[in-house]
Amino acid sequence: MAAAPPSADPLIRFRVDGAVVEVPDDGATLLEVLRDRLGLHSMKDGCSPQGQCGCCTVWVDGAPRVACVTPARRLDGRQVTTLDGLPGPTRRVWADALVATGGSQCGFCTPGIVMRLAALDGPSPVGRDAVDRALLAHLCRCTGWQTVVEAAGRVLGASGAAGDGQEPEAVADATDHGDRDLAAASTRAGLEGGVAQRVGPAVVLGDAGFADDTCPSGALVAVVDGDRYVVADSLSAARTAAGKVQGRSTTVPLGHPVAVPGGAWAVTLTTTWVEPAYVEPDASWCEPGGTPASPYGNGGSFGGKLRSPVAEDARRLADGHGRTVRVLWSREDVVRRGPKRPPVAGGVRADGTGVLRVGVSGSGIEGPDWDDLVVAVAGLAPGLVLEQVEVVGPATSLDLRAAVWAEAAVLAAAARLGRPGTPVHDVPVEVVGPSGGRAVVRCAADGTLDVEVSAGAVLDAVVLRSYAIGAAHQALGWVRSEGIAVSPEGEVQDLTVRSFGILQARAVPQVTVRVVDEPHGTPVNGTDAVFAAVAAARWLADGLPPAWPTDRTGAGRR
Ligand code: FES
Ligand code: FES
Repeated sequence: MAAAPPSADPLIRFRVDGAVVEVPDDGATLLEVLRDRLGLHSMKDGCSPQGQCGCCTVWVDGAPRVACVTPARRLDGRQVTTLDGLPGPTRRVWADALVATGGSQCGFCTPGIVMRLAALDGPSPVGRDAVDRALLAHLCRCTGWQTVVEAAGRVLGASGAAGDGQEPEAVADATDHGDRDLAAASTRAGLEGGVAQRVGPAVVLGDAGFADDTCPSGALVAVVDGDRYVVADSLSAARTAAGKVQGRSTTVPLGHPVAVPGGAWAVTLTTTWVEPAYVEPDASWCEPGGTPASPYGNGGSFGGKLRSPVAEDARRLADGHGRTVRVLWSREDVVRRGPKRPPVAGGVRADGTGVLRVGVSGSGIEGPDWDDLVVAVAGLAPGLVLEQVEVVGPATSLDLRAAVWAEAAVLAAAARLGRPGTPVHDVPVEVVGPSGGRAVVRCAADGTLDVEVSAGAVLDAVVLRSYAIGAAHQALGWVRSEGIAVSPEGEVQDLTVRSFGILQARAVPQVTVRVVDEPHGTPVNGTDAVFAAVAAARWLADGLPPAWPTDRTGAGRR
């Protein structure tokens, strides 16, 4: 643990993981003290100062607290415990359980979740309700919760936390994961996430290599202020200088900016802007003349960071200042600046012919991105014509998970299998994505999902299953609850993680996954097809209401 720098302010004295620390009483939050002054990085900053993602959760006198909204001055004389300070056997049992179930993917949310769930541990088994309640304080965008709940069941004996009957066997220990090849698991994770990704206990325990965790101490810090960066000696000084204010959710209603084209359609669909909501905000750092740290810490951010400027910004600022510079976007910056899933509107006839309009901001999309999309849609929904329509709003991107080809696949399946006003359950919805990955999904009347996924050689069934469940969670949210409000002038109004409409753990139905192994097949991405097929199956089960999201009650928005 690094020593806090000297200061003229009076001192606060408390213990962190058993060691006495003294820090100046200058208004800093506990998260700033832990990460920026003491150099501890297991607790993450996903949304400070919103206090809504749970990534920064630590214990204060044994009870979980979100550190980003806990003033350090309240801690005088108290005990703070981080994930680094939990006893070795506790760390190991949670790492084992989450690796064994696939309950940690990018890993950004995981240390906070471990701290929350470990606080439930006691002499009696913990019920599923208690686990779900505990998870209300957290956001995980990757896993879809089920594998996290399964891990809690292993450690806490949580009744009702059992999986789909195919939950993987327990691993032997933290360094020997039974028969699993964690390098192969990482390869599978990379195929599903789109960038190189690590799988293993270190990810669970907060050491996944996120850019903002690896920056050398003493770097200048750059934060966004409108269209420019403010650079200062510390994060709090930079944020103060930039006048950063906390993001808000809004009562502005969701808009559906693209009109359905005229025609005699069997099925129509309109959607709104959707926030990709990757949990690790864009971050990088660079030394003068050096190579910037990748903003892809341990996951693909669902395509949302593919064109993130932070790495080049860090390089430019470092060269300009002649010092190492750390660039860190806040949650509001990510929402204001990052790309959104495009709103669409389409109509399709019973024979599968129709039109799908794609809302784009600015001058539209040309070149290979659009050409690739046209080819993908032609393979999935050959009768569907794509059009671009300019909309006033945040930047939209085809980089985001299965953007537009999933909408095309959903419309084609709806025309083939259903009609508006008539819920259809238990029919197999098949989608073969552009990668060749294939999914067949059934949605039962009680909402439970049966998912079959084929993606070539499996490499690691735990990871593929976990990604399939995560894709199902994201698809359910997309159909039912996700969307961000945009003003008539095009400004995003929903700036907090709780305003995006992401489904909470208790609102997610059981997802049963069958992984089809093709031992000699080339491994390909399989879970983008799951995403599209789950969306179609859920929409058919809802009776094809014409506008998404269809029902925001499971999202706990605030
Ligand atoms: S960073 Fe503290 S709750 Fe999100
Ligand atoms: S594993 Fe939870 S946000 Fe990525």
